[in-house]
Amino acid sequence: MSLIALGVTGGIGAYKAVEVCRGLQKRGHDVVAVMTRSATRFVGPVTFEAITRQRVITSQWRPGMNADIEHIAIADGINLLLVAPCTANVVGKFANGIADDFLSSLYLATRAPVMLAPAMNSNMLAHEAVQRNLQTLAARGVRFVEPGEGYLACGWIGKGRLAEPDAIVDAACALLSPPDSALRGRHVVVSAGPTYEDIDPVRYLGNRSSGRMGFALAAAARHRGARVTLVVGPTRLEPPAVDEVVRVRSAAEMHEAVMAASSAADVVVMAAAVADYTPSAPSADKVAKSDGPMTLTLNRTRDILGDLGARRAAAGPGPVLVGFAAETDDVLRKAREKRVRKGVDLIVANDVSQPDRGFDVATNAVTIVSEQADESISLQSKDRVAAAILDRVERVLRSRVSTTAHR
Ligand code: CTP
Repeated sequence: MSLIALGVTGGIGAYKAVEVCRGLQKRGHDVVAVMTRSATRFVGPVTFEAITRQRVITSQWRPGMNADIEHIAIADGINLLLVAPCTANVVGKFANGIADDFLSSLYLATRAPVMLAPAMNSNMLAHEAVQRNLQTLAARGVRFVEPGEGYLACGWIGKGRLAEPDAIVDAACALLSPPDSALRGRHVVVSAGPTYEDIDPVRYLGNRSSGRMGFALAAAARHRGARVTLVVGPTRLEPPAVDEVVRVRSAAEMHEAVMAASSAADVVVMAAAVADYTPSAPSADKVAKSDGPMTLTLNRTRDILGDLGARRAAAGPGPVLVGFAAETDDVLRKAREKRVRKGVDLIVANDVSQPDRGFDVATNAVTIVSEQADESISLQSKDRVAAAILDRVERVLRSRVSTTAHR
């Protein structure tokens, strides 16, 4: 049994939160309702009070509220913060760290997992500002129950309607009791994002990686009970909450950080887009232009994944190793060849010639190449692709345990 803070915000779907509340209780959880001021215009706090048999929190300023700094006390005590419905306004506040009421302060103060069920008009949902805020939150490890399509209260038909209460309750319960995982208690190292190779103090060679795929993998591994170290190159997205975040800039720095972090790791996933070449002689001063063309000499960087494979081959069991192969043609052949050449367990092959997958988008479609088989994962959110990759990693971990047991 868990304690869930149910945030209710000012959308027409607020009345459905009553059903969500009941559903959570039926599944054995305790609920404390936290309503924003506008939510109370849609549903009365007394309704939640009667159902939860707890005081409903509607304001930070009620007398007595600050006697034991309630948002901190609740923040420490809850196992989940679930917000249903979650308006565009509250999505924006959470994404940007604004804490001007009880619910938004609770979001910042808690370390419990957070799940949002957004609900709003379709155009609001599609707006770049809202999409960016949702992506920021997703990258931070916040979970979502996707809004459904259908008749909206504003009279439109489209996407934006609050998910059905049953679906919200199911998603919350699944989050609270993650499946029994082979990753529980294991140390997982994930690299993410691009690397920047400096040419001079103002210019660098980089790439379009956003870090999203690696962040989704790190968050999913953490959720399965792993201790996660995330080694991340320069990216504008915020990393999810994991045990350790190591920030690096260049391929050389990433090499050092990953090799050090993974010496006793159980799994290493190289999702970073590491530069293959770096300027041979970066200039300490800004390079001025001249009239003619310019030639830049580049040296090969060290192959981190290849070095991990070689270290494992030389020194014994070592971690499960997973790499990515971003290709535009002959994807599977190249991925298979890469797996063998680098001496790793799995290569996640990405056809980056399509606009809806690979770099800097929220979705991906991949093929997981192992020694035994190729498994294709159809186009879906990077969170789901991350789950499929980790399922595969778990199979490798389990097979290792059983072969050791049979020796
Ligand atoms: N990688 C690495 N160290 C590097 C370069 C890449 O660990 N210096 C890892 C990436 O994180 C990824 C995989 O290796 O997991 C990609 O393999 P790589 O051979 O670098 O492929 P690409 O650069 O995508 O392709 P190619 O070799 O064909 O240029």
